[in-house]
Amino acid sequence: MSMKFEIGFSKSARLSGGLAILLKTVDEKEAAGAAEVDPDAVIAKAARIAKFKGKSLATLDIIAPQGSPVDRILVLGLGDGATMTAYDWLKAGGAAAAKIRGAEKVAVFLDVPGLDVSGKGAADFALGMEMNAYTFDTYKTTKKDDDDQKAPARPVKVTIVTEAATEAKRASANTQAVAEGVIMARTLVNEPANVLGPVEFAAKAKELEKLGVEVEILTEREMKKLGMGALLGVAQGSVRPPRLAIMQWKGGKPKDRPVAFVGKGVVFDSGGISIKPGAGMEDMKGDMGGAAAVTGVMHVLATRKAKANVIGIIGLVENMPDGNAQRPGDIVTSMSGQTIEIINTDAEGRLVLCDALWYCNDRFKPQAMINLATLTGAVMVALGSHHAGLFSNDDALAGQLTVAGAVTQERVWRLPLGKEYDKMIDSKFADMKNTGGRYAGSITAAQFLKRFVKDTPWAHLDIAGTAMGSPTDEINQSWASGFGVRLLDEFVRANYEN
Ligand code: BES
Ligand code: MN
Ligand code: ZN
Repeated sequence: MSMKFEIGFSKSARLSGGLAILLKTVDEKEAAGAAEVDPDAVIAKAARIAKFKGKSLATLDIIAPQGSPVDRILVLGLGDGATMTAYDWLKAGGAAAAKIRGAEKVAVFLDVPGLDVSGKGAADFALGMEMNAYTFDTYKTTKKDDDDQKAPARPVKVTIVTEAATEAKRASANTQAVAEGVIMARTLVNEPANVLGPVEFAAKAKELEKLGVEVEILTEREMKKLGMGALLGVAQGSVRPPRLAIMQWKGGKPKDRPVAFVGKGVVFDSGGISIKPGAGMEDMKGDMGGAAAVTGVMHVLATRKAKANVIGIIGLVENMPDGNAQRPGDIVTSMSGQTIEIINTDAEGRLVLCDALWYCNDRFKPQAMINLATLTGAVMVALGSHHAGLFSNDDALAGQLTVAGAVTQERVWRLPLGKEYDKMIDSKFADMKNTGGRYAGSITAAQFLKRFVKDTPWAHLDIAGTAMGSPTDEINQSWASGFGVRLLDEFVRANYEN
């Protein structure tokens, strides 16, 4: 089991044993709460010897001396406290959580002199702790009792001590919802495809009904009736049938048109007949990272009762080679009526999305439509793991997503669209082909999607580099990052609520 925290906020703490975590900025002499845990000024001496100055995320770990009310003291540096952003609080919480080890109870003193700790900052600190603590070890059967990085059986009791405790409690209802949504998305991506097929994923989406989300699941037959030939073409090589999950959260005014999120949910992408090379193919269990982010953010919005109308649609398929699989050269008809020549069966994500986007636009007439997809390897070449590719037909929408990305540090970087790129997917035999050749691979994929959104303000986030396999950091120790959940939650909060 990964470490679990039971986090509370309080204006004061009664200390007896356990771990005290103190914070220190570079310009303050003393760490927060030092007087309460350190009768003999041991911290000051330890800091001097260890040359600990309070630089951002540096730590000083001390076994508390006789006479101290706690067993252990951890001092965590904040750097320049005056410039603490929401993301800095997340990272501080994450860095603290990483150092907790075997402690059974923890008191964190947040109120550094000179630092204005808001309830939101304290709640973000707690969120960072939970994001750090998540690991995916469902399938590890050998127990880790001897590994002191791993969890004790019981949740670790954490008290966050701050004058802002009352506001922090209020703010933590929101951040707790975010923690759950991020963890949900991570787990969906981490789960292997034999366990999480399209039907199983759809069942997870259906569970959001408990939170007040309206959920419909379309089967193969219903999608056939709707004419979703592009999505179904991908699915036909798999013995496991596809699903389309439609989630509606109606937290806004009934007359307000919704904003819509559409996710690529390829539970496993072998490439199909255009089969992928073997090396690294196991990572393609995560090719549903877009759908996971959409499901995760719907969970967040419903849990925190967001005052907005939001649609989440995820196309769930498995891309397999088979006697019945689609072939290069096949021509399929999408729900839009536009025909597509399949050049490469491994360019399947756009085929799933084009029908999901068309359906979404046609049925819900959203104010804006944002799709998320682990769509191209090319976006990893362009941007690596630290920015998702952003494509949009609407500057205002692109701007809103860029701002939400900066706030959450789930960053996006806009790449161009243009008619020259669009031409690259014209086909000899059909209205378009599903690949545009080697150059500008992420852009031609985006151009393909653009052909299915009419004039609706639309953005496409290519999260192939950010959803999984990114380097671990303070707030993510797992293969899957949950990328997109915090970004979209912030995007809704900033642009669609009240
Ligand atoms: N799911 C992949 C993209 C991907 C690659 C995601 C690596 C995460 C990590 C997608 O379906 C794909 O195979 N794209 C092809 C497109 C090509 C055939 C035009 C690619 O990127 O190579
Ligand atoms: Mn593929
Ligand atoms: Zn794929």
